[in-house]
Order: sequence, then structure tokens, then C-alpha cells
Amino acid sequence: MSTAKTTYDIPFGRPWIEDADRAAVMRVLEGHILTHGPECKGFEDEFVGMMGGGHAASTSSCMASLHLAWMDLGVGPGDEVIVPAMTHAATVHAVALTGATPIFVDCLPGSGNMHVDAIKAAVTPKTKGIGIVHYVGIPCDMPAIMAFADAAGLPVVEDCAIAIGSRIDGTHVGLFGHVGCFSFYPVKHITTCEGGMIVSKNADTVARIAKFRAFSVDRTHSERKVPGIYDVADIGMNYRMSEMQGALGRVQITKIPEILKRRKANFEALKAGLEGLGRIRVIDDPDPRFVNTHYCLVAVLEGDLAPKRDDIIMALQAMGVGTSVYYPHPVARLTAYKKRYGYVDGTFPNAETIADEAIALPVGPHLNTKDMADIVRAFKAVTTD
Ligand SMILES: Cc1ncc(COP(=O)(O)O)c(C=O)c1O
Repeated sequence: MSTAKTTYDIPFGRPWIEDADRAAVMRVLEGHILTHGPECKGFEDEFVGMMGGGHAASTSSCMASLHLAWMDLGVGPGDEVIVPAMTHAATVHAVALTGATPIFVDCLPGSGNMHVDAIKAAVTPKTKGIGIVHYVGIPCDMPAIMAFADAAGLPVVEDCAIAIGSRIDGTHVGLFGHVGCFSFYPVKHITTCEGGMIVSKNADTVARIAKFRAFSVDRTHSERKVPGIYDVADIGMNYRMSEMQGALGRVQITKIPEILKRRKANFEALKAGLEGLGRIRVIDDPDPRFVNTHYCLVAVLEGDLAPKRDDIIMALQAMGVGTSVYYPHPVARLTAYKKRYGYVDGTFPNAETIADEAIALPVGPHLNTKDMADIVRAFKAVTTD
């Protein structure tokens, strides 16, 4: 591996915060409404506008949204819920917290997403739901998954944590299943520092979940005839978003078209450059109906590069090229799940290949196509003996 002297300043992710974002947060702090207010309501309405339909409730994180979704569906001990092996722990924790058993399914090697046939094969009489993830912003084949799920009477929860802008035939992901859950963690497409959104095409579903989100109190402040008097109809959580986050989200959402444009241009430039080097396979879905939202570029190393993945990551880091791994383990291999269910290497071969032999490279709006050429140059330098 060569030790080229050239260095770059290419972080994996960088939140896009400008004066307008800071001013929006300050305006909240200069007022008196810090939560339960018009900023979160405005953000929810504008999020629905960006998606082109549905209803939305802001939350404290994507994982909180996922947890609310499974609580709303009433899954619990004795039930099984199908989840992808190749995802963030949050997707699975949200199921496990209800007491239900996650049933892991391997991904396709090309897109990182679950195929409907693999989902079908995992269904048992105990299955009570299907949790899907749009892997790094590449949409799952929702028409096929929903056709199966509807016929089987199984609700689908879409984890859209890093899929803002992902669409199938024009429909935004999150609007196919029972609900969709989004993340606004700092390196995501847009940020509210921490934060999430739960969406559904069904207004009643969102209204019910909005109550779960706030202790399951049965009426809002404005709905209380006598101040302070309310009832609690169920056992709920406090998973609300603050007004500062809502205000920040409303400025962030205006940047989405530009963010998606830059990400696409960067992704395409980087993909072409890396594929030209050989021994690298880029995860993507070539079907034009499935709009990839380009959260990052996952490069699977092949041949003699595959076993050197961690060394290549460290060499890129030494040259100032930030990378990540999406995701570093099939979730079933993480200690928390291995302890409960055991794990045999080779159980999820496609997820294991991505976890052990792939590198996630940056394509965010803080970078341009010259940075992509620099990443390719750095990659070439660290992989040429
Ligand atoms: C697929 C997926 N789901 C959920 C999460 C968790 O999101 P949050 O930090 O908003 O809870 C992540 C975080 O990266 C993710 O990648």
C-alpha cells in the first residue's frame, strides 16, 4: 500500500448550518413557547408538502418514531417481526423493546435491500409485522413488498432514516406502508441536531401516534376546557421534538432540492471514477423507477482488496478522506443480539460482505465533484502496491 503525501479535507458528513438556521433557533429562544408549538406544527406540514402527501408527527429521533410505530401496532412477547440483517441497531431495538422477537433477513448483494421472496420465506404463524429499511437511501421494492404484505395481512413499517427524497414512480418512501420513520441526526440529509418524523398516508394513524408521543394524554393544551385537566388513555412516552428543533428543521427543509442535486452529482462522479479503478463494486439500483437519494456511496471491495478493508479505511483517513461503514455488522452479530439468539458466521452472507468488505464514502452537499476526483485519486494511491 503506497503512502502518498497528498492530503485532503474531505469529512464524511458536515451539517449545513447557516445564519438563517441560527436565526430561526434564536427566534424561538426569544419567545416563550419552547415545545408543543407552531414551529413543530409548521415543520410537520412542510415535511408533508415536501413528500407530496400524507400526515406527519415530529418526534425526538428516528428510533423513537420506530418504537412508537411498533407500540401502535401492539406487537409484543410471543410475536415475531421481520427485520433486515443489514441495518442500524435502532431498527431492531425498536422491535425488541416491545418484547417481540426480531427475525432477521439477509439483503440483496446489489442494493443492500431485502427482496420480497426472502421476506416471504421468513414468515411464520407468529409473524405480526415487517420492518423494512431503504438501505442508504436506495428504495426497497415497495410495490412488490406491499402486494405481499397486504395479501398476508401484515403491517409494514418503513425505516426511512436516510431516505429523504427517495421515491418510487414519484411516491415518496414512507407513504407505502403503515408508517415511515425519518431521522434528522447531524450527518443525515437535513438535521435538527437530534430529531425524527413519523409519517403515514392515514390521518388517524398519525393522530393516534401523536398521542403516544406525548404520554398518551387525551387532549392538547388548547383542547382542555379546564386548564390542567386531562385523562391518559394508554401508556405512552415522551418522544416530542422541541420548538428549537422544529424551527431549525423548517429552514433545513428548504435546502432539500439543492442537497439532493449536489448528492446526485457527487455520487455519479464518484461512482464512475471508482468503477474505472476495478476491484470495486458500487451498491446502487439501476432501475430508474427507484430514485436513490444518495446518502453515501457504498463501495464493496473485491478480489485482493476485500481483506484489506480496514487498512484502506485507515490509509484514507491518514490522507484526510473521511469514511464510514454502513453498517458494521449484520445486527444479529452485535453482542446484544448474539447473546440472546446466538450467531453463526455465514448466516447472512450478503450482509456480512457489506459489513466486512465495504467502505461508505462521502457524497454530501459540503463536497463537490472536484472532491470526488480527489477521493478517487486517494483511493488509487492507497490501493496501488
Ligand atoms: C436505518 C437507520 N435507522 C435508524 C437510525 C437511527 O436514527 P436516530 O439517530 O434518529 O434515532 C439510523 C441512524 O443512522 C439508521 O441508519
